[in-house]
Amino acid sequence: MINKSLVKKRFSKSLKTYDDNAFVQKQMAEKLVDFLPKKEFNSILEIGCATGLLTKELKSKISFSEFSANDIVPEAESYIKKIMPTAQFILGDIEEINLDKKYDLIISNACLQWCSNIENTILKLKNSLNEGGILVVSVFGKNNLKELNEIFDFPVKTVDISKLPKDTLVVEETINMFFDSPIDVLRHIKLTGANAIKEMKLTKSILKDFEKKYYEKFAQKNRVQLTYNPIYLVISC
Ligand SMILES: C[S@@+](CC[C@H](N)C(=O)[O-])C[C@H]1O[C@@H](n2cnc3c(N)ncnc32)[C@H](O)[C@@H]1O
Repeated sequence: MINKSLVKKRFSKSLKTYDDNAFVQKQMAEKLVDFLPKKEFNSILEIGCATGLLTKELKSKISFSEFSANDIVPEAESYIKKIMPTAQFILGDIEEINLDKKYDLIISNACLQWCSNIENTILKLKNSLNEGGILVVSVFGKNNLKELNEIFDFPVKTVDISKLPKDTLVVEETINMFFDSPIDVLRHIKLTGANAIKEMKLTKSILKDFEKKYYEKFAQKNRVQLTYNPIYLVISC
């Protein structure tokens, strides 16, 4: 189960530093928009909008009439309203809230891994599409942050493709990032909110042990590696 109060706490704190550190999530937002058909959408719903990295991509590349954005963190509303003053903000946990209308496009970047049941959430979103609508989502695969998982038992929440509709388009990729030190890796994780995965007390001795193991296993020339493993899903109605 996901600790939703930890998710809210970590993201409301990291929104201020998110855009300057979420390099991979920004690349994912750009790629996600490339999966969309070139047409005008009547209504769009974005799930887990945060500071609006994906919202900005949609605004500049896609034509639409109505835009709604959801997030579990109330602070996200002001970021979205600055990008798109006419957007409707829907506050709440996407696993809990009732979506009272249907949309032509539902889109979500790097958010649904924070759901306790990703597959059920995807099916719930599919059911909120109009006829001919499209659901486009990015989540992460089993190798995401594998270095942290190996050292800290940092669990990775991934999607079980076999539980999704048979005609789901699935595209997976690996992105390697490099940092000057293992401590810079931890700082990066904190500044993007990904430390909501697990509450950890990092004492001096735990940190020392972490640095030693990380250098031993994941050093490349003078830098250390961190792996991201995005998965893009496209489901049509
Ligand atoms: C990694 S950020 C992704 C932000 C944005 N989609 C982007 O493209 O950069 C994840 C966002 O999902 C939100 N979130 C996490 N769990 C959620 C849930 N159950 N319902 C709605 N939003 C959620 C977080 O508050 C956070 O703003």
